[in-house]
Amino acid sequence: MKAVVYKEPFKVDVEEVEDARIQDPTDVVIRVTSTAICGSDLHMYEGRTVAEPGIIFGHENMGIIEEIGDGVASLNVGDRINLPFNVACGFCENCEAGYTGFCLTVNPNGAGGAYGYVGMGPYTGGQAEYLRVPFADFNALRLPGEEGDEFEDDFACLSDIFPTGYHGAAMADVGVGDTVAVYGAGPVGIMAAYSSFLRGAERVFMVDRVPNRLELAESIGCVPVNFDEVDPIEYIQEQTDGHGSDKGIDAVGYQATVSGGEEEQPAIVLNQLVETVRPTGRLGVVGLYLPEDPGAPTEEAAAGRLLFEIGRFFEKGLAMGTGQCNVKRYNRALRDMIVAGRANPSFVVSQDLPLEEAPDAYHRFDQREEGYSKVVLKPGS
Ligand SMILES: NC(=O)c1ccc[n+]([C@@H]2O[C@H](COP(=O)([O-])OP(=O)(O)OC[C@H]3O[C@@H](n4cnc5c(N)ncnc54)[C@H](O)[C@@H]3O)[C@@H](O)[C@H]2O)c1
Ligand SMILES: [Zn+2]
Ligand SMILES: [Zn+2]
Repeated sequence: MKAVVYKEPFKVDVEEVEDARIQDPTDVVIRVTSTAICGSDLHMYEGRTVAEPGIIFGHENMGIIEEIGDGVASLNVGDRINLPFNVACGFCENCEAGYTGFCLTVNPNGAGGAYGYVGMGPYTGGQAEYLRVPFADFNALRLPGEEGDEFEDDFACLSDIFPTGYHGAAMADVGVGDTVAVYGAGPVGIMAAYSSFLRGAERVFMVDRVPNRLELAESIGCVPVNFDEVDPIEYIQEQTDGHGSDKGIDAVGYQATVSGGEEEQPAIVLNQLVETVRPTGRLGVVGLYLPEDPGAPTEEAAAGRLLFEIGRFFEKGLAMGTGQCNVKRYNRALRDMIVAGRANPSFVVSQDLPLEEAPDAYHRFDQREEGYSKVVLKPGS
């Protein structure tokens, strides 16, 4: 089968690889119909991780069941399913508690597994024609309708960005009437803003510097804040009568850049959020921070240690939630919102492309090229 394979920093190829196959009785194999490129893939693509050449990318997967293991009880060949980016077992203590992003059995390197991601277990990615799905009864989310129907790209958002954005809003406890500051207008931040509105937010400020991303945020009702033009802390304070926003979401992570330049300052967004949010507010941090970052600007940051303003954080009585999204906690409800016509996350998808165009798509997405907000690859198209 064909798959998107990481070759070296800033280079992926579409290559012939070994076919995905049933390895355990609880597996299914799907024919992949949609598989998205994620901002998280770029950390590996840019050589910022210890990802080895040869890894097949792709953790935002959906498709049609092609083959079924003998131990699978609830699924049939031909079923249309979406997969959380988390690979989870369903029977460990964390899975039972709903923390499927921190499954204790699927990853020999630590808690939590994922498809096609360095350090997240032995699962190959779905940017390929076929994908092996472990613990399929637990991980599969059944979808109504047919391959390629009007919901295909909405459902494609259920593997990661929609639940992850929602997770940011949930960890920040966004509720009715809240004002929310979201940093980062990538697909995750856009989904965090969208989810904040779904949860009843009154006003959402969106901080970024990429004009077309800010325009997309504005199109769903956000107040755009360009951090190359204004100081986001001052601006949001002014707009909230000096109080600050009620809640804040970090959808940037450690690759945050400073205003007016390209220099990275890994803790800048966290510290800006501490100042942006009013005392006793809450922060939802879904932007990625790594325990090791070989490409970081300082030795401390390379060891995952950032200068976080814990004094101000404490003084203001703030609270913060962090970490991988437990996709299964939200994906069923968000699917049902899509089917009911109450949510249409696919407005964030900018391109549907055949698998063969992945190398070019990675390059353009990595350059934050105008109009490349979210690429969904369609193997077999
Ligand atoms: N927690 C999870 O489960 C989970 C899941 C998916 C993605 N992520 C992470 O979420 C983050 C966002 O993902 P994405 O796909 O939207 O990425 P992205 O790279 O497309 O978006 C990041 C955005 O942040 C902006 N930005 C950079 N510096 C900034 C600053 N100082 N202030 C405000 N904005 C700034 C960039 O211009 C860019 O638009 C990444 O770190 C990704 O790894 C986490
Ligand atoms: Zn992702
Ligand atoms: Zn588990």
